[in-house]
Amino acid sequence: MMKMVLASKNAHKLTEMSAILSQLGIQVVLESDVGVDVDVEETGTTFEENAALKAVAVMKACGLPAIADDSGLCVTALGGGPGVYSARYGGERLSDRDRYQLVLNGLSGQLDRSAKFVSAICCAFPSGGMVTARGECPGLITYSPRGEDGFGYDPVFLVPEKKKTFAEMSAQEKNAISHRGVALQNFKVELEKYLQG
Ligand code: IMP
Repeated sequence: MMKMVLASKNAHKLTEMSAILSQLGIQVVLESDVGVDVDVEETGTTFEENAALKAVAVMKACGLPAIADDSGLCVTALGGGPGVYSARYGGERLSDRDRYQLVLNGLSGQLDRSAKFVSAICCAFPSGGMVTARGECPGLITYSPRGEDGFGYDPVFLVPEKKKTFAEMSAQEKNAISHRGVALQNFKVELEKYLQG
């Protein structure tokens, strides 16, 4: 069984990744399981670049294939922002609520509410090989927050076909259509191709 190290301390991401990658006979483990703790500065200007930075750093630290993801919210009327800055939009000290409020304020009086969540996943191999995939989920920014579940910008991100924000969906419902869910499915396809040489 091939082992891949997830460049994250997030056990929730581990569960999500494992569910898909175990189908390829891959065992996903956390950095802490292989005794590494790498802090990578996300200095890239694209989601792909940041995912690759994290994956390569962890791969080099432990000598095993490593996977990383990077994601964020891109709002058309904010010039694609907060984008790669989603996690630190408005400064390090803000809460999730402060951050989505900042998005709502930035769109005050704005009729174009279109936005998308983006996720990039990258796996770096010790051989120097790399597999990358991307997923997007289009939607609209609401005028006020809705729903209690989820995290980050979920309460202000509406999926029109579902008439629900991400925060009003169950985890299962969200995973089926989310940027991360789509990226993970695409990643599985790309990884399978790569492994078959
Ligand atoms: P990352 O952990 O560096 O990929 O940062 C992603 C940031 O984008 C998070 O801190 C959230 O603010 C935002 N984000 C990414 N995916 C989601 C999501 O599914 N719902 C809400 N916010 C998200």
